[in-house]
Amino acid sequence: MEQAIQVKTNKHESKAVFNVTKAVLPVAGFGSRMLPATKAIPKEMLPIVDKPIIQYIVEECARAGITEIVMVTHTSKKAIENHFSTADELEQSLASKGKNELLAQVQGTKPSTVTISYVQQGEAKGLGHAVLCAKEIIGDEPFAVLLPDVLIDEDDSEVDNLTLMLQNFEATGTSQIMLEAVIAEDVTKFGIADINGVDLQAGKSSPLIRVVEKPSQEDAPSNLAIVGRYIFPPSIWALLENTSAGVGGEIQLTDAMDELIKTESMDAYYMTGKSHDCGNKLGYAKAVINFATKHPEIGKEITQCLTPVPDPSA
Ligand code: UTP
Repeated sequence: MEQAIQVKTNKHESKAVFNVTKAVLPVAGFGSRMLPATKAIPKEMLPIVDKPIIQYIVEECARAGITEIVMVTHTSKKAIENHFSTADELEQSLASKGKNELLAQVQGTKPSTVTISYVQQGEAKGLGHAVLCAKEIIGDEPFAVLLPDVLIDEDDSEVDNLTLMLQNFEATGTSQIMLEAVIAEDVTKFGIADINGVDLQAGKSSPLIRVVEKPSQEDAPSNLAIVGRYIFPPSIWALLENTSAGVGGEIQLTDAMDELIKTESMDAYYMTGKSHDCGNKLGYAKAVINFATKHPEIGKEITQCLTPVPDPSA
C-alpha cells in the first residue's frame, strides 16, 4: 500500500501526493510525417540502430522507477504489443542454437520491473484525447506522460531527467513540464515557456507562468521549448474531459494545461542532454546517427565513417 504524504502547493493549499509509479505512452497517432515508412510499421517501432524507439522510452520509464506503463494504442499498431510479449518460437530457436546473448536481448525487451497494459484509442482525436483514454487504468493518481517519438539522450548525466522530474513532483506536488533550449530562429516551431525571465540552468526547475504556442521571435518569452515529458496530478482528468476539440478537430493536451495553470502551480524543468524528435525525417535521421556513434558495438566505426578524411593534395 502506497503512503500518501501531505505537501503544500504554491497556491497555499495542502494536498496528498503519492509516489508516481505510472506512466502513459500515447502511441495511437498516424505517424504521417514518416510515410511511407509508417504505412505498415508503427513509427514507434522504427529502429534506432538495433532497438525500436518505443523500447528506449520503456527503458527510460524503468530507470526512473515507473512500474506501470499504459500504452494508448490502435488496432493497426499490434507490432508494439508483440515487441513486448514473449516470442516462443524465436526464443526456442535461439536457445537451441546456444545464441544466449541474443536470447537475453529478445527476452529483455520489457524490463522485469514494469508491467505494460494497452488501451485502444479508436480514433486519433489528438494527444489530449489519447491521454484521457488512460484515465480508467491510471485512476486517481499522479502520472507521467512520455511522448514516444521524443528520444532523450541524457548525455551520460548521472541522474536521468525523468527521475529528477519525478523527485521534484514527489517533493512538491507540483506538475512538471520538461523544457529544452532552442536557437532563436526555432522558437516559432514550438510551445515556448514563460518563466518570468528566470535564468534557468540545466537540471533545475522554475515556476511556469504560461506557454506561448509558436510565438514570433519578438514575442517569445524565452528560448525554452516544451519537450514531451510531463508529470501531472489527477486533477488533469477533469480538465481533459472538459477540453473541446481545438486546432484540426483534435483535443489538445496544451489546452488542458492552460486550464491547469489557472488553479495549480506548474514547474518548468530544464533538461540536461539533448532531445531528438523522431517523428520527422530529419530528427529521426539525426537520432540514428547520434545513437549509432555511441553504440558499444558499432560506435567507433560509425564515428570513423563520419570523420572527414583529410585531402592529401590540400
Ligand atoms: P504526434 O502528433 O507527434 O504524432 O503526437 P502523430 O499524429 O503520429 O504524427 P504525424 O503528425 O501524423 O506525423 C505525439 C504522440 O502522440 C500520439 C502519437 O502516436 C505520438 O507518439 N498520438 C497523437 C496519439 O496517441 N493519438 C493521437 O490522436 C495523436
